[in-house]
Amino acid sequence: MRIADFALERYFARWEFAVRHVLGASDVEPFSLAEVLALADDDSRRRWDALSLGYTETAGLPALRAEIASLHEPLGADDVLTFAGAEEGVFVAMHALLEAGDHAVVVWPAYQSLFEIARSIGASITFVPLDPRDWSLDVDAVAAAMRPNTRVIVVNFPHSPTGAQLPADRFARLIAIAELHGVHLFSDEVYRFLEQDGRPLPTAAATSPRGVSLGVMSKAFGMPGARIGWIATPDPSLRARLAAVRDYTTICSSAPSEILALIGLRARSRIIDRAHEIISANLRVLDAFFAADDRFTWIRPRAGSVGFPQFLAGDVDRFAADLVERAGVLVLPGSQFGYAGNHFRLGFGRRDMPTALERMREFVASWTS
Ligand SMILES: Cc1ncc(COP(=O)(O)O)c(C=O)c1O
Repeated sequence: MRIADFALERYFARWEFAVRHVLGASDVEPFSLAEVLALADDDSRRRWDALSLGYTETAGLPALRAEIASLHEPLGADDVLTFAGAEEGVFVAMHALLEAGDHAVVVWPAYQSLFEIARSIGASITFVPLDPRDWSLDVDAVAAAMRPNTRVIVVNFPHSPTGAQLPADRFARLIAIAELHGVHLFSDEVYRFLEQDGRPLPTAAATSPRGVSLGVMSKAFGMPGARIGWIATPDPSLRARLAAVRDYTTICSSAPSEILALIGLRARSRIIDRAHEIISANLRVLDAFFAADDRFTWIRPRAGSVGFPQFLAGDVDRFAADLVERAGVLVLPGSQFGYAGNHFRLGFGRRDMPTALERMREFVASWTS
């Protein structure tokens, strides 16, 4: 398989574990194992203590799939497959949905795997850009991008890297477009539950027979190292294809991680409250920072744990390189998304964000391009 480098992941691979502060991270402060186990109910604690390190069911632990399905009511456990993070889910889904010569419509900017895997399969892509003035999506532009060979519309709300959220009526129109054309709506919902108004969109899988929802424990649930993600879809033939492709990637999920994810999902109201506490406090700090510094523009995110400010005082690639090399603070320049305009991704899910931001403030004061 020929596939282009995943620019963002290569950039992270170089810097993430070599710096003091990752100010471009997209997760919410990760839990320790002890913290997760302390949240276990009796049943999941028993499962943990009695855990066999054998292979698990290829579709995922039934109790875990039932818990995931409860996020997608009226779907049930059989409508869900678990994966190694959301990333495996994207890979497998694109291979299940697309063949060479097919076409996909993808909202732009995008997490690279959401279009690069389709490209590597030989599908063509039409990107529909968010409006850089407010990161809104023109749903008519999605409708206009549809072709006879379109097989999937790929969206990601809450959106990375902008923090945009789609109003419910536009989401309903996207579903109507997918249904009208008989294509799947692949909805990357990995930042779900991080909406500042506390009102998640309905999931695509719960709303439409054409809906395919991608979820993960990495963001709101603070467990990226567990590597548990999922796809929910009411389409049985797509689920069969997902299962068939997955036999060539990881076969089944990690047994300990399935239990940890089960604990996390059962304790979700406490976990999501914690995420909101961290994010609300960080956003207040960011509001003050951007209000006081005219070297940046900032469209305040409505949801998720990342935003995409613009740097006005010089080349953002140079700035990000100097910032990480000299101050040990990692942000992600927009070029890693292939996005022009001098933006960078900033994450606000980590507890050290105010300290990292303070280091960036000190650094930018003396930085000249
Ligand atoms: C939009 C989006 N989709 C999918 C993923 C992959 O999630 P994971 O790393 O948990 O597999 C990410 C990770 O940052 C993401 O931002």
